[in-house]
Amino acid sequence: MGIGSANERLEKIARFVHDRLTEVASRRANPNLDPDYRWQHTLRVSHYGRMVAEAERADVELVVAACLLHDVAHFDQDDWQEHGRLGAGIARPFLVELGYAPAERESICYSVAVHVDGRADFEHPETLESRVVSDADNIDRFGSYRIIQLCTANVDNYRDLIVKLKQRLGTLEDHRRKRVMETKSGHDLFNRQLDLQIGVFKALIEESELTSLPELSPTG
Ligand SMILES: [Fe+2]
Ligand SMILES: [Fe+2]
Repeated sequence: MGIGSANERLEKIARFVHDRLTEVASRRANPNLDPDYRWQHTLRVSHYGRMVAEAERADVELVVAACLLHDVAHFDQDDWQEHGRLGAGIARPFLVELGYAPAERESICYSVAVHVDGRADFEHPETLESRVVSDADNIDRFGSYRIIQLCTANVDNYRDLIVKLKQRLGTLEDHRRKRVMETKSGHDLFNRQLDLQIGVFKALIEESELTSLPELSPTG
């Protein structure tokens, strides 16, 4: 598979991604770039990737390597749409250095390239591994931390928060009705996330309906 053990290779990839996210964010000096969040998201995606890869019998190392690398170019350009394809180009020479065989390297690069919009800028057949990486990314995008982010951003305006939660609830329920993930295990984990968010948002909305004076039924 390459030089050293799988864990050694993954550690090197992790360090490469972490350092690059931090370096690009500080070079661009844009206060909206949050390398800590991006790195934490990357780590969680790697765990979801491992879980889904094992259940789907995909190649676990190729999936985890791609999960670690998937957002490596997230801060490179204002055009967010390109960060998958750009990331594959950044990953490739580094994966050569780690001694991955050409087929393994290209599989990792393909998963990174297509995770945003399904399109790579080089020829490669579709892979199970790329579907797993895409699912792992989406599972984290609907995690419990997102509940905190949405609520914190709107905490000073309760009425606005409830309006936003109602809109969000519609989207979540829509996702729950459809099958938006690409693998069976990804779908199960994604639904777990959706149920959690739907439960919390519904509770907050119900609670907001109690934020009024109770009206008693007229007596005698
Ligand atoms: Fe991404
Ligand atoms: Fe991501």
